Amino acid sequence: MSFTVAIDGPAAAGKGTISRSVAAEFGLAHLDTGLLYRAVGRRVLDGADAIAAAEALTAQDLENPEALRTAEVAQAASRVAVMPEVRAHLLAFQRSFAARDGGAVLDGRDIGTVICPEAEVKLFVTASAEVRAERRYLELSAKGSDVSRAQVLADVRERDARDAGREAAPMVAAETAVLIDTSEMDIAAAVAAACDAVRAALAAK
Ligand code: DC
Repeated sequence: MSFTVAIDGPAAAGKGTISRSVAAEFGLAHLDTGLLYRAVGRRVLDGADAIAAAEALTAQDLENPEALRTAEVAQAASRVAVMPEVRAHLLAFQRSFAARDGGAVLDGRDIGTVICPEAEVKLFVTASAEVRAERRYLELSAKGSDVSRAQVLADVRERDARDAGREAAPMVAAETAVLIDTSEMDIAAAVAAACDAVRAALAAK
């Protein structure tokens, strides 16, 4: 059975936690597609060409996700993600992951619109830039990073503008996406809303 849950939205809105929770609750495989762009961004920071890096990407590049979860790699990922050729090289891997038996959750920016337009469930998880920046700031500070709140907010805004403003597969809610705004919602409530949407789609199948 193929059953796909597409979860899109900006950085630090709660997408990651919601995706992992939905995957665990319904026994679905999970792919954080941001890691693909981050792995390409990492290669570019090390001097590689973005398009060649995307073409050569293998599952091995995703083996150490924590090393890819830095602010520097996030910005590099957002910069390579504007290139249509980079996106094209990453498409087949994402589509075949989505088609796997047993179903899958994919999260990113263009899953409901471009990668899996036929997904059974589409969610768009968002929150105000200020709330997202504060969450990211607390996360980074807890890891010992000495960034300022203002710097994190500026980073969030820069990445939002680039991801939503690009020509190729911009970040946008799919027409039929269920909108989950987590600005004033705790994570448990957001996960519950996501699970409700998935349960309804499963019941209708
Ligand atoms: O979700 P993330 O923060 O790990 O994503 C890093 C960058 O990768 C994001 O700023 C834009 C890009 N990205 C994308 O263009 N399309 C996706 N499906 C996922 C991520």
